[in-house]
Amino acid sequence: MSKVAIITGGGSGLGQSTAYRLAQESVNITIADVDEQGGNETVEKLKEIGVDAIFVKADVSKAEDVKRYVDQTVEHFGTIDYFFNNAGISGSGEYFLNTEVSEIEQIVGINLLGALYGVRYVAEIMLKNGGGSIVNTSSSAGVTGQDSVVTYSATKHGIVGLTKSMVAEYAKDGLRVNAIAPGPTETPMVKEFYEANPKMKENATGGIPQKRLGTPEEVAELVTFLLTSKAQYINGEVIRIDGGFTNTK
Ligand SMILES: NC(=O)c1ccc[n+]([C@@H]2O[C@H](COP(=O)([O-])OP(=O)(O)OC[C@H]3O[C@@H](n4cnc5c(N)ncnc54)[C@H](O)[C@@H]3O)[C@@H](O)[C@H]2O)c1
Repeated sequence: MSKVAIITGGGSGLGQSTAYRLAQESVNITIADVDEQGGNETVEKLKEIGVDAIFVKADVSKAEDVKRYVDQTVEHFGTIDYFFNNAGISGSGEYFLNTEVSEIEQIVGINLLGALYGVRYVAEIMLKNGGGSIVNTSSSAGVTGQDSVVTYSATKHGIVGLTKSMVAEYAKDGLRVNAIAPGPTETPMVKEFYEANPKMKENATGGIPQKRLGTPEEVAELVTFLLTSKAQYINGEVIRIDGGFTNTK
């Protein structure tokens, strides 16, 4: 039987490429995103590839929206096997003391609360049905300290704690929870960020031992591996995919 996945932030970037990669494994998919146009585009393409897919408009920082994408997935597909808990924003790139409280609240709301709510409601269904596999999106800034992204980095370190502690509680019941820590990867979010902060792009590429940014397809390959049974004895890991970037820090 085909597996069922939910992908948050599936209307763009890493979520979208992972959706297309999972479709190659015949996985049926719910795309949850605040961006209706991007989300619907992904769903249309998934249907062209030949899997079943639905779009649920949801702001992951709102617990009621998260519950809704979970409920609608169960209603439509009957279960949830895989969860790519991925929606996130980067912030302004300002030094911390130049950021407003409203920006701090927004980043924490989407990146950390959104991820916690997602795991809270999805894992409940997975455990009822005998288990499942979750991949949370952290970041290089979730495993090292970096300037200009203090709030973002705090949320992405939080993702690591969420990942490891869920395993401590629920691995025995059939749940696998891993995280990815991508370095700068060429998605729309990063392109926009580096267009606004060109000096940071130079600094970032120069600091990567492989001297290039990652691609969304490379990340999608890793997420697919971690979600599926190929990684069935890997649990609580935070896998860096960054061309050696954090290795040199
Ligand atoms: N691209 C990188 O270099 C990089 C590196 C490390 C980590 N990440 C992380 O990867 C994840 C995906 O980023 P991306 O690069 O694909 O960015 P992206 O901007 O291309 O995609 C992010 C998606 O999340 C959606 N989203 C934003 N806020 C949302 C909300 N409140 N509710 C629901 N959906 C929302 C957006 O609409 C968009 O479709 C993020 O968590 C990001 O922090 C990205």
